[in-house]
Amino acid sequence: MVILGIDTSCDDSCVAILGIKNSGFKILSNIVSSQTKLHAKYGGVYPFLAKREHQKNLPIVLKRALKKAKLSLKKIDLIGVTVGPGLEPCLWQGINFAQKLAQKFKKPLFAANHIEAHILVNLKSQISNLKSLFPAVCLVVSGGHTVLFLMEEIGKYKFIGETRDDAAGECLDKVARLLDLGYPGGPVIEKLAKEKLEIRKDGIKLPRPMINQKNYDFSFAGLKTAVLYDFRSRPEKKRKSKEYKIEMAKEVQQAVIDVLEIKTFRAAKEFGAKAIFLGGGVAANEKLREIFSKRAEKEKLKIFIPEKIFCTDNGVMIAVTTYFRQKEATRDWQKTEAKADLEI
Ligand code: KG4
Ligand code: ZN
Repeated sequence: MVILGIDTSCDDSCVAILGIKNSGFKILSNIVSSQTKLHAKYGGVYPFLAKREHQKNLPIVLKRALKKAKLSLKKIDLIGVTVGPGLEPCLWQGINFAQKLAQKFKKPLFAANHIEAHILVNLKSQISNLKSLFPAVCLVVSGGHTVLFLMEEIGKYKFIGETRDDAAGECLDKVARLLDLGYPGGPVIEKLAKEKLEIRKDGIKLPRPMINQKNYDFSFAGLKTAVLYDFRSRPEKKRKSKEYKIEMAKEVQQAVIDVLEIKTFRAAKEFGAKAIFLGGGVAANEKLREIFSKRAEKEKLKIFIPEKIFCTDNGVMIAVTTYFRQKEATRDWQKTEAKADLEI
């Protein structure tokens, strides 16, 4: 069986081809055409520009994916495309493209949920014996989402909590913009935070919003505001200094990780989880990966974190999800529609 996965939910045009045999999955190709540089000057994603780029890029990306996999479209058995959540104009580009392909080659089409896919990509290395992993607590942390949910089995999810305002990645992106570090913010903040700096007693101290509240919700807008207040309270020379930027990067990264760690592991305990699954761009952060892995080991929980390239948006996550939910694929192609606010 061969599956084609397409994602255009944000600013990356992604196409992947996945081969499946009894023994497991084989990634035949995984092409991501990033628009990061294009959006960098806006400090965030500009939806209509992204839509235009997807339209231009998708045929090229598909061609590259087929060439890499050494396959023709006729050999594809099943197509999966993200229908939400995401930026509506962008989602429609992927959906229209997938519909045309599915109709032309008479293949079933699956409507994938982007959040579920960020988690299920962890199973690309494990196709069977999944029962021992459930229930699992899942945390998706990206530029658009910060959501915690329980996976009782594939397709059966219980919402636990989410951010009430900004997503964790969005907070890092905004802080990076304030400090004039560029976009996307997460990777630059991570790089700066690795630099050596003597910690002073009167160093920057940011809050850990909602960390002690019993619910599983998050608030990262408050953290961003705290950064802004600290920034404004410093003389211009100080706030433009490399030293200040390093100190802020270390503290804001740690504040985000602390809240995510406490709430995820508390949820794992309360819901009797056997495993923790992470996904989304922020899960590419090395400090976060290290802290979560150590804690999971200590608490005897299995932990799944995708390799960095599978944390950010990609087509493999859509193809893997399509495999696990193939029964829901349809030949009623035109019924597949964008659902910008789709929930888990
Ligand atoms: O999953 P993703 O590619 O797109 C969305 O669905 O949003 O996530 C992008 C987000 C951005 O906010 C970016 O700053 C953040 O993930 N990010 C990181 C790292 N790499 C990307 N955050 C922290 N550390 C990183 N290494
Ligand atoms: Zn994403």
